[in-house]
Amino acid sequence: MSEPFIRSYRPNDRDDVIDICLRTAAGGGDATGVYSDDSLMPEVFALPYLEYAPELAFVVDGGSGERVLGYVLGAADTRAFVEWWKREWGPGFHERHPEPGAPTGRNPGFTEAQLLAAGFDPERMLIAEVDEYPAHLHIDLLPELQGQGFGRRLIDTLRAALAERGVPAVHLGMDAANTGARAFYDRLGFHELPSSRPDAPLLGIATR
Ligand SMILES: CC(C)(COP(=O)(O)OP(=O)(O)OC[C@H]1O[C@@H](n2cnc3c(N)ncnc32)[C@H](O)[C@@H]1OP(=O)(O)O)[C@@H](O)C(=O)NCCC(=O)NCCS
Repeated sequence: MSEPFIRSYRPNDRDDVIDICLRTAAGGGDATGVYSDDSLMPEVFALPYLEYAPELAFVVDGGSGERVLGYVLGAADTRAFVEWWKREWGPGFHERHPEPGAPTGRNPGFTEAQLLAAGFDPERMLIAEVDEYPAHLHIDLLPELQGQGFGRRLIDTLRAALAERGVPAVHLGMDAANTGARAFYDRLGFHELPSSRPDAPLLGIATR
């Protein structure tokens, strides 16, 4: 049996990416059944990236024809991505999710209304530092893959791909309650951006 390895995203990884996104979306834990529709979270935080920039999506292949176990997704130019979202992604999202569904009783940190608002408002991505840190990313690994160095290697892979394209720096926004992820980013050398808030941390790092 071969070991897991990092490779570029392929279209038939799409369902695995959707599944990973959902299973790591509740402060790093499983968000299955938390929202009225399990497709909502991936439709805001994973699928637009696969559509817009599949060349900046990298996955951890389980090896031996197994499923994908983790990913990093990037948008090199957040301003251009926001324009694309308004034009290409937003209308379909709005149609599929016109309003929040019935409450599930699961008590998410991020409410369904907030999730829909995020889908309706791509300009939320235009952070104050967007011109100095034009790219942004999302990274998620299934629990069985965590703690083995793949997160660090995925970030290195994306940073190298961005640097190759002349992008100087990358940022991310995260859930303040996700203390494990915060320890990871700190360890990798990410720093807080000036507009970061305790309830909505914003971190950045140069690509090289
Ligand atoms: C956060 C996440 C991406 C980290 O990836 P990972 O593969 O588990 O982390 P790595 O094994 O590459 O760790 C890299 C470094 O960070 C440190 N680190 C990682 N997680 C840590 C934690 N919870 N606490 C302290 N240090 C941590 C490691 O010790 C390691 O240090 P070293 O390289 O100096 O030895 C991954 O755990 C994950 O996907 N979690 C669930 C989803 C999530 O939270 N995504 C981020 C949303 S913002």
